[in-house]
Amino acid sequence: MEKEIKQLKKDLEQAIAKVNDVKSLNDLRVHYLGKKGKITGLKEMLKELSVEDKKTAGKLFNDFRQEATDLIEEKEINLKRKALDEQLITEKIDPTLGATEIKTGSIHPLDRTIKEVLDLFVSMGYDVVTGPEIESDEYNFARLNLPKDHPARDMQDSLYVATDYLLRTQTSPTQVRTMEENKAKGPIRMIAPGKVYRKDDDDATHSHQFMQIEALVVDENINLGHLKGTLELMVQTLFGKERKIRFRPSYFPFTEPSLEVDVSCFRCDGEGCSFCKESGWLEILGAGMVHPAVLEMSGYDKEKYSGFAFGLGVERLAMLKYGINDIRQFYQNHLHFLELFERIDKEGHK
Ligand code: DAH
Repeated sequence: MEKEIKQLKKDLEQAIAKVNDVKSLNDLRVHYLGKKGKITGLKEMLKELSVEDKKTAGKLFNDFRQEATDLIEEKEINLKRKALDEQLITEKIDPTLGATEIKTGSIHPLDRTIKEVLDLFVSMGYDVVTGPEIESDEYNFARLNLPKDHPARDMQDSLYVATDYLLRTQTSPTQVRTMEENKAKGPIRMIAPGKVYRKDDDDATHSHQFMQIEALVVDENINLGHLKGTLELMVQTLFGKERKIRFRPSYFPFTEPSLEVDVSCFRCDGEGCSFCKESGWLEILGAGMVHPAVLEMSGYDKEKYSGFAFGLGVERLAMLKYGINDIRQFYQNHLHFLELFERIDKEGHK
């Protein structure tokens, strides 16, 4: 037995020395240590020995089998290390090569504008709310103080999807929903961005779908001064500290008084230029004090509470802010147009 082991060990060592890759090493392992392998075969010899001889021969056999396993494993580690070293040399990276440009996309100008407005109002404690785009006739009109036969309904050509349901023409129904959902009938500060729809033919200044931001504040003793202060802050945040606002009387069925709000032209600083059609002012939104009938229909005590509201067109705001003259550009998704805003916000208007 001792002799056979010696011979096998020599064979094995020579064979291992010749092996140059992991696959051949695996074959070699099977050849020596597999079920029908040479070393495993030695076991047969043990059977024929006396009990006494078996003891010593058995130990020799076990030690050798362990030694063979270790030798093969050691070789395997060496082979793998060698392969890795070679790989590291051949796959060396070249840091001087130019990088591949990664396109990251950019935030849509309408989203940018909405975010800017929402950030300001959230910082003042307003809740951001949303409402359904398919709205009932009831919420879109009746609860905003426009009964079925009210002539003001003709002010907005609507897209009806069923007898009493339409694509909302304004975000104002979110006011009603918010007041109604407030079971405590307590104070409200909400801001609601969203899409609205009108039966308009698309051109440079009209779109059958556009976006509005609606705001509503309800509390005790709310007055026009609060509205003015809030709008001044918004306009100065969006268009610069020097901006002024002015109110013009207007009419909306859900506010009394109703106002149209203008901002002093930021191109000419109110002097008059082609941008503001020589008036020095740019119209930006509609607003007013919530009509007592609207408060009452939503379950609010009109003697105790008053409120202000306003609604603005996001496209119009973005068009003014970025000097865009065709509303359709927001919806055509031309990359060169969309990428512009990332630059403008980074480098400022030029
Ligand atoms: N909903 C009006 C529109 O679409 C805008 C508006 C005007 C909203 C006055 C208001 C408001 O909340 O108080 O033309």
